[in-house]
Amino acid sequence: MVGMIPTVRKAVFPAAGLGTRFLPATKAMPKEMLPLVDKPLIQYGIEEAIHSGIHNIVIVTGRGKTAIEDHFDVSFELEHLLESRGKSQTLQAVREISDMIDVAYVRQKEALGLGHAILRAKDLVGHEPFAAVLSDDVIDSRVPCLRQLLDVYEYFGCCVLALMEVPRDQISAYGVVAADPVVHNGASDTVFRIRDLVEKPRPEDAPSNLAIIGRYILTSDVFEALEATGPGRGGEIQLTDGLRHLLHTRPIFGLKFEGTRFDAGDKLGFLKATVEFALRRDDLGEDFREYLRSVQLDRSPV
Ligand code: UTP
Repeated sequence: MVGMIPTVRKAVFPAAGLGTRFLPATKAMPKEMLPLVDKPLIQYGIEEAIHSGIHNIVIVTGRGKTAIEDHFDVSFELEHLLESRGKSQTLQAVREISDMIDVAYVRQKEALGLGHAILRAKDLVGHEPFAAVLSDDVIDSRVPCLRQLLDVYEYFGCCVLALMEVPRDQISAYGVVAADPVVHNGASDTVFRIRDLVEKPRPEDAPSNLAIIGRYILTSDVFEALEATGPGRGGEIQLTDGLRHLLHTRPIFGLKFEGTRFDAGDKLGFLKATVEFALRRDDLGEDFREYLRSVQLDRSPV
């Protein structure tokens, strides 16, 4: 089968949401620019794409567009200053990412939903399969999550969604799938064929405990499906509803990926990710661990 299936070369990063859960920090800046330790969320997502072999990046921007564009652009002034001060390591860190990617931007003028944001990338993506990454879902894994999804895509040649088991009482925050396991690479508990999808169901209506996480491999016919999709939950054009449309014409698969996912678009999730990522850093981990040990955790709130 491999060989006939078109290669995924592009990744779309929707970054035009309002980020209301993180106000006021996100009033003038997209939440995708919030830093985990010292790198903005979107950079973690872009590095995941690069490590999965994808270098063509499309970013869908809304407010705070300039912060994202400047971040991935060359900063002559800053580079000159770092060079003249002999800070070669910092200079390399600043340069590395803009050297590695080819990035294009498209604007979503109004936050009309994730499906609408993806649709804005139609002309830049064209008739090719592509990845979509919601960079407020930060995934720490041995093999990059996108790479894991690509392996399934390269076998089936259809859309593949990242899935995670979620406790019932939290399921209403997610898109949820009804799905049947399929045998893949000798395993029968990681890859699923999706029967139905529903956006943010009530716990009693959820078809399973398998939630969709912000990583997708999509075929270009998803654009036509989204064009045929009207506003759904919250008056927004939902990607989940678009995929439901697509299901009429072709199969969609899901992968229970290996790794830990942090919801960094949520305050508590963001704090957890910050602690975990800081503890893992060679330059900070030891001191930070020592500091955490000294924190009086049973102190009553002020
Ligand atoms: P979220 O569901 O997290 O919504 O979007 P949000 O508006 O960004 O944040 P909250 O819930 O108000 O705090 C998931 C992803 O889809 C993008 C967001 O930027 C985020 O990456 N998105 C969402 C858009 O690009 N446009 C939209 O209209 C909606």
